[in-house]
Amino acid sequence: MDSFNFYSPTEFVFGKNRECEAGQLIKKYGGKKTLVHFGGGSAVKSGLLKRVTDSLDVEKLDYVLLGGVKPNPRDTLVYEGIELCKKEGIDFILCVGGGSVIDSAKAIAAGALYDGDFWDFYSGKASIVKALPVGTVLTIAAAGSEGSGDTVVTQEKTGLKRGAGSNALRPRFSIMNPELTCTLPPFQTACGAADIMAHVFERYFTNTTEVEITDRLCEAVLSTMVKEAPRVIADPNNYEARANIMWAGTVAHTNICGVGRSQDWNSHNIEHELSGLYDVAHGAGLAVIMPAWMEFVMPHNPMRFAQMATRVFGCAMNFEKPEETAKEGIRCFRRFLKELGLPINFKELGAKEEDIPLLVEKLGLCENKTWGFVRLSSDDVAAIYHIAAKATL
Ligand code: NZQ
Ligand code: ZN
Repeated sequence: MDSFNFYSPTEFVFGKNRECEAGQLIKKYGGKKTLVHFGGGSAVKSGLLKRVTDSLDVEKLDYVLLGGVKPNPRDTLVYEGIELCKKEGIDFILCVGGGSVIDSAKAIAAGALYDGDFWDFYSGKASIVKALPVGTVLTIAAAGSEGSGDTVVTQEKTGLKRGAGSNALRPRFSIMNPELTCTLPPFQTACGAADIMAHVFERYFTNTTEVEITDRLCEAVLSTMVKEAPRVIADPNNYEARANIMWAGTVAHTNICGVGRSQDWNSHNIEHELSGLYDVAHGAGLAVIMPAWMEFVMPHNPMRFAQMATRVFGCAMNFEKPEETAKEGIRCFRRFLKELGLPINFKELGAKEEDIPLLVEKLGLCENKTWGFVRLSSDDVAAIYHIAAKATL
């Protein structure tokens, strides 16, 4: 195991009706005037936004509303949010929504305290050292942004989807009421499940040896998803299954499963070009890319894939030909995603095979290689896109 620091300062406030504590929590973390940031309407329709703002009223806290965050959040609304924060003297941002709202809020939080263009953080020109404090009321178990220091934003005019990260962005608190996720359409629930599993796989496929504890934590999250995701698709109001999935989503991405080991993240970067170009859901893009990436890199370490196959999907171990077990594990993963209602190839996702050169070009590989479990060249990335394009069960 490698040396590491683990920093996860967020207060997680979990359970039924906890959104009514938003006002108290903002007060506890020093907020006086809050920007309440939300998405395209689900939080308004369900009455959640009203319950949250009522809790701010009870605490006599000032606030300004900014809705309209789209999935794959855009830079244009971030610029608007930064201006609003400066004009209104905002000192706290509360996000009511999923990864897109939280990531947009984090971008606003960093941009509001920066003199230059906030996109500098996403283009790699500048690092985030300070940000307004952020709190979240999570409405979808997926991105893990409620417990991460990361943010991903799309530049409207170029379609470039890029990430930035800093401990300064880790939420002060995250309110997690699993009941709030019962209104999710089944497709969004499934996309969330794929993203949660992908966050674990990005850490699980490592070149670091002797990482029993984090291997086992990863496998626990993955096995939980294999059990609970089909349960919520069949029974959307199943609170216990929703609760297990919601916490799995956070555990998957605070990095508690990834400390002390090298990580990959190539599937995420390869996927971000798909959601950037076609505006598809991130989890749907991952369902297409992740098994294709697995097929491509499996020969690098078949035993690690065989371990996943046996421990997560219950495959029988073929000791003479571990590659066969590894391949069976990948097949099980793709079948699982399909059964959740997710796309598994370009056609089902709405992507075009002829765009592959453009996707590779947009990825803009640094020194023509990625980093990770297996270093990938542009040709390797193109090969992964082609596997993804044609995948079948
Ligand atoms: O906008 P509204 O109306 O709220 O609708 C949303 C949206 O259409 C809807 N939704 C959310 N909660 C709901 C609900 N509908 C009904 N009931 C509810 N309770 O779901 C749709 C998707 O929401 P979104 O926030 O986009 O989902 P998700 O949490 O999957 O976030 C995806 C974004 O996070 C980024 C992705 O790239 C993508 O842009 N990621 C962020 C990460 C991070 N910051 O650490 C890591 C991830 O790997 C990921 O890249
Ligand atoms: Zn993700």
